[in-house]
Amino acid sequence: MEATILGEPLPYEDRIRGVGSFKYVDVEEYFNLHRKTLEDFEGFWASIARELEWFKPFERVVEPGDHPYVYKWFSGGLINISYLALDRNVRGGRKNKVAYIWEGEPVDEGGVPREVRKLTYYDLYREVNRVAYMLRNSFGLRKGDRVAIYLPMIPELPIFMLVAARLGVIFTVVFAGFTAENLAVRINDLGATLLITADGFYRRGRIIRLKDVADRALETTPTVKSVIVVRRLGLKDVNMVEGRDYWFDELMKGVPSNVYVEPEPMESNETLYVLYTSGTTGRPKGIMHDHGGYAVLLHATMKWVFDIRDDDVYYCTADIGWVTGHSYIVFGPLIEGATIVMYEGAPDYPAPDRVWSIVERYGVTILYTTPILVRMLMRFGDGWVKRHDRSTLRLIHSVGEPINPAAWRWLYEVVGERRCPVGSTWWMTETGGILISHAPGLALAPLKPGTNGPPLPGVDADVVDEEGEPIEPGRKGFLVIKRPWPGMPAAPTGMWGDPGRYRQVYWEKIPGKGLFFTGDWAIKDADGYIWVLGRADEVLKVAGHRIGTYELESILVSHKAVAEAAVVGAPDPVKGEVPVAFVTLREGFTRTKELEEELKQWVRDKYGSIAVPTHVFFVSKLPKTRSGKIMRRLLIAILTNKPLGDITTLEDEAAVEEARKAYEELSRELKEVTYR
Ligand code: WT7
Repeated sequence: MEATILGEPLPYEDRIRGVGSFKYVDVEEYFNLHRKTLEDFEGFWASIARELEWFKPFERVVEPGDHPYVYKWFSGGLINISYLALDRNVRGGRKNKVAYIWEGEPVDEGGVPREVRKLTYYDLYREVNRVAYMLRNSFGLRKGDRVAIYLPMIPELPIFMLVAARLGVIFTVVFAGFTAENLAVRINDLGATLLITADGFYRRGRIIRLKDVADRALETTPTVKSVIVVRRLGLKDVNMVEGRDYWFDELMKGVPSNVYVEPEPMESNETLYVLYTSGTTGRPKGIMHDHGGYAVLLHATMKWVFDIRDDDVYYCTADIGWVTGHSYIVFGPLIEGATIVMYEGAPDYPAPDRVWSIVERYGVTILYTTPILVRMLMRFGDGWVKRHDRSTLRLIHSVGEPINPAAWRWLYEVVGERRCPVGSTWWMTETGGILISHAPGLALAPLKPGTNGPPLPGVDADVVDEEGEPIEPGRKGFLVIKRPWPGMPAAPTGMWGDPGRYRQVYWEKIPGKGLFFTGDWAIKDADGYIWVLGRADEVLKVAGHRIGTYELESILVSHKAVAEAAVVGAPDPVKGEVPVAFVTLREGFTRTKELEEELKQWVRDKYGSIAVPTHVFFVSKLPKTRSGKIMRRLLIAILTNKPLGDITTLEDEAAVEEARKAYEELSRELKEVTYR
């Protein structure tokens, strides 16, 4: 079976050379350089680490931690990422350089944004110090305490992240589009004592009342003692609980403008934040990142992948609620002293040219975006792009899921007019930063539409079979990382409170080889380039967001009508993948269109609109293996009208006969769906 991305074959031979004014190298030269970095692995990473400023130099580059497969990077070193992001730039000549250009969503009649805030490095530095002073003095926050940040895309979000980092307070950011349930699970797992949220925000012309959602979460989060509420909308009727809830602006009233809060000297491996991501089973996993190793990977990738320079205007279209925003809207570009564009709202509001108007308005030079956004905007036609000046753009990358060659070509030809290299940077929440990507800032190897490119220097990535043995080029296998890397899940436990699960999920899927299992299918081509094809586990990638099928199944079975549920991902031309549910009903419930709608609404309320299944099929029985495992491949084959023979057997333990019978029965049943 030929590998594809969204049905498009992979153009292995389509080598595009020497785009833009980057240092161009051929494939062999790139891999020579790459090989050298692996030969002197520790020396190489140490030299990058020394480009940062340490309060005390590190003693070791990498060493095993206290739990299996937890490694400590740069131990002995003292550092603070908020110092690197702020103090170092303020002192180093970037005091009055713009750090953030923030644009609110609302526009006036002529389509001009109503609110634009520009914060210089000095503005940001002073504000972070003031807020840190307030948090320390009014709430007694100290190193090791935990806070949850549930804020929309407003400047206070990076400000609170930097404040927590400065104090050594461990934070978790929860995406503002998440529901009360999702917020509560994260707060409770982390044991956060303070929640920072806002009255609301604008999204696609509507008002979202965020504090109301937070209030519902707060009913089940006993550890939270205080709540700080940022006034974004100026809503008058916000519920404020006496002695628990405080308006941010009122707390800040008495804080002088020139306070200085010493950044906490953090041991390199000490925790910066915990970010939750979906897995195949159970509750979301709290991935831990540290100050030192994480800062080193971000510094390296900002240089190699983004070629960041002082006159750049860098715009990442992601939300800070996901790891992309943590690493590449907040910490990475700030460490480099970049000017960063941050936009509050929907990318197609008020019209499908919002992104391109932002590029024109601020003279964006580097664009970091996602395949879903590209596919969505492509559909509106080239006119929306072409009416805006994009001559400042010099580099474009995407992230989050595989980019199909057609979407890649649109970015390359229409948006960047063949002047900008276009890359697809592979990484995940767990890796902290980009690991597989073209490196225009270092040496630009030939591009290919849709590939992730070669592994970055110092990164040992490969494609292997179930036993962990390398497989021949062009064959599909599992993407693994063969050596630790700075920015990996951090000490002491990798996963918050659960070193055992960390070990099992990432290191024991392929036992005994010391390989980090990414959970992705990939192909390595004859040039050594990696092409990630999608998830190999029971995790969906809906519009680039990771959603565990298990999470959605649990929500469905918590509805009174549902006996059993199976959720699978069906291919979608824009979203990449969409959830589709198969459910069996309890006695006394009938299959109606209304019940289907009710179940969709149930998922929307419990998880958020990103996870709503496009269809809920009612079936009399779910196809399962003898051991009780749902045959997901079979469900997908039925949905996509593929014959059963095409199904890879790699992950199905089902006997062939058993599967064939289930396939036939279910196909027949779905053809006769009662209410359609
Ligand atoms: C999963 C990680 C990394 C920040 C955003 C997502 C998929 C990510 C690519 C890419 C193909 C990609 C993988 C990975 N993925 N980037 N350039 N090409 N697939 O972070 O939510 O932790 O998801 O996203 O499947 O495992 P995440």
